[in-house]
Amino acid sequence: VKDAGVLAMDIYFPPNCVLQEELETHDGVSKGKYTIGLGQDSMAFCTEVEDVISMSLTVVKTLLKNYNIDPKCIGRLEVGSETVIDKSKSIKTWLMQIFEECGNTDIEGVDSSNACYGGTAALFNCVNWVESNSWDGRYGLVVCTDSAVYAEGPARPTGGAAAIAMLIGPNAPISLESKFRGSHMAHVYDFYKPDLASEYPVVDGKLSQTCYLMALDSCYKTFCKRYEKIEGKPFSIVDADSFVFHSPYNKLVQKSFARLYYNDFLRNCSIVDKDSREKLEPYSGLSSEESYQSRDLEKVCQQVAKPLYDTKVQPTTLIPKQLGNMYTASLYAAFASVVHNKHDALVGQRIVMFSYGSGMTSTMFSFKINEGQHPFSLSNIASILDISNKLESRHVFRRRNSSRR
Ligand code: ACO
Repeated sequence: VKDAGVLAMDIYFPPNCVLQEELETHDGVSKGKYTIGLGQDSMAFCTEVEDVISMSLTVVKTLLKNYNIDPKCIGRLEVGSETVIDKSKSIKTWLMQIFEECGNTDIEGVDSSNACYGGTAALFNCVNWVESNSWDGRYGLVVCTDSAVYAEGPARPTGGAAAIAMLIGPNAPISLESKFRGSHMAHVYDFYKPDLASEYPVVDGKLSQTCYLMALDSCYKTFCKRYEKIEGKPFSIVDADSFVFHSPYNKLVQKSFARLYYNDFLRNCSIVDKDSREKLEPYSGLSSEESYQSRDLEKVCQQVAKPLYDTKVQPTTLIPKQLGNMYTASLYAAFASVVHNKHDALVGQRIVMFSYGSGMTSTMFSFKINEGQHPFSLSNIASILDISNKLESRHVFRRRNSSRR
């Protein structure tokens, strides 16, 4: 099997949102805290008429319809989600309604769950299936669906909701470069949901940010090592055209890319110019522990990485900034943003993906973008995603006048 990966994508998100600047006023925090401090524009939310199941049913139906795929041609269906609807029954079983209707009950796969990482586990499972001896020639289907809601407090503005579906098969326009991969998995309590009766996670915000960045460093190191072993030359951020990050809020994405730049500086990569090298030099002696705590280092890295951020990362940020954290769907919504923004220019490019799930599980992997045959071409995927229309037709919930009569 050649070029196994993503053949087609579709996204559904709730038609409701609140503006982060209005949320700032409502929450009584300082102006700019959510928009500049977290880097978010607006936040999507489910009203009482929808949930992760209805969103995933919708996105699977629209994907099959928009790409004209017969439901009988699906042989594996995997769902990534961390929104608990039932402690035993997979969300996948609800989706089987679509396939049972046309007589297809021969579909492998169940749900994968570990915070925001489940979608990546589902993707790897489906791609591995296509590349394995048990593959029967049919398509795989990956669904990421989540609604992120937090208790009142600093984490609340980092909620969001969406569902994404991805059709998996060979000769894909978006193929996995399976050789290049780095994972970091460990045991931590940064974000978890021990209260089964509550929708809210227990979250140690600061710890979760540090865990995310530590996992990023570790995955990047392993990814670079694998790349060098196979390609016989070092990897640096110049070797990929886009970097797509799991995006709890945009500020963390800015910090993440800056962190990769810092890694390249420590590894003496030529991408780091003389001027930036001089600015970073004072921090070269920090221990890795110290480097996570240094606010000055963080600021300098963000500043020197900014020009590359603008070309390699900014086009990935559209949907996450508009919707918020979609947990398992977040990384793939960021990827959909690049497809939306740059579909004409992507063929031949390498796109590095960083998936993070608290608790913790993380992998850095890469996509290679190929030509693709209609309907599985980048331009068709972009037109079916229809991002601009979907964003523009949302209903913005406004603040009620707070003065009482
Ligand atoms: N104008 C501009 N910037 C501001 C303002 C303002 N008025 N007020 C604050 N800020 C900045 C701060 O300087 C800070 O920026 P910096 O990080 O560049 O220094 C930023 O806004 C955040 O403010 P803090 O006070 O540091 O953090 P806060 O208490 O608001 O909490 C947090 C932020 C921890 C991200 C919280 O929203 C949270 O817990 N979210 C959920 C956890 C999460 O998403 N973790 C990420 C990985 S795990 C996962 O994906 C679930």
